[in-house]
Amino acid sequence: MRDFYFYRDMSTPDLPIGFFDSGIGGISIWKEVIQLLPNESCMYLADSKNAPYGMQSKEDIIQFSIKNTEFLLNQNAKVIVVACNTATTNAIDVLRARYDIPFIGIEPAIKPAGLITKTKKIGILATKGTLNSTLFEQTSEKLDPQIEIIEQIGEGLVELIENGEIHSRETDHLLHQYLQPMIAQNIDALVLGCTHYPYLISKIKTILGNDIKIIDSGEAVARQTKKILMRNNQLNSNKNTKVTHRFYTNKKPDALKKLLDGYSVKVIKTDF
Ligand code: DGL
Repeated sequence: MRDFYFYRDMSTPDLPIGFFDSGIGGISIWKEVIQLLPNESCMYLADSKNAPYGMQSKEDIIQFSIKNTEFLLNQNAKVIVVACNTATTNAIDVLRARYDIPFIGIEPAIKPAGLITKTKKIGILATKGTLNSTLFEQTSEKLDPQIEIIEQIGEGLVELIENGEIHSRETDHLLHQYLQPMIAQNIDALVLGCTHYPYLISKIKTILGNDIKIIDSGEAVARQTKKILMRNNQLNSNKNTKVTHRFYTNKKPDALKKLLDGYSVKVIKTDF
């Protein structure tokens, strides 16, 4: 029997869904979730002080993920969406073994990419932590061996996005540097393996052109979240609930606020 550190009564549909990421990347996932589940309250933890996770050791990524989970559990999360590929691929097994609540993770969508590729070459842009993880290696091994995966670490991109420099020359320069070699190798699908990267999608599209499909897992995570909540009878069907969205960050909230412009949310700067 597992020795759980935490137990949550499952009969709690009006409690919030918890999300965490190394920073603001997972907001792209939160947006997908609230579109599919508008009756759910949410809270989101941006551990921007420790970003980027992708360049840190597996042990550190696990420790950050435990700390984030405990914060969200103390705030009564009913399920936790690990809205970060790096944390999912390095730490979700540990979290699932340690806490008795459902975790929904996000992994690079190389399987769907493998199903659509005609050139048998797919590109993946992700963090070093994700690309070096055992989980990513295991998923890659399940792919048709005729398909070649061209891996590229998106070094520097997370930092630029966290600093609100999405439209900087440096961002354009790095994207060209990372994507041109994949185009030259004839990929016809590019997997976005980091939740920060969807903010760069229009720039990526411009570089890739119309013949290379961009694949990202945000929508699939939202569908999986709904499925898990339904399975556990935790979907909030009480239409009279006041839906709230709280965002916690341990760094300056400027970039976070910018991404949340137009949404009715509360942003809280806190130390954790
Ligand atoms: N959003 C995280 C991910 O999906 C970024 C990782 C990082 O902080 O390096 O991998």
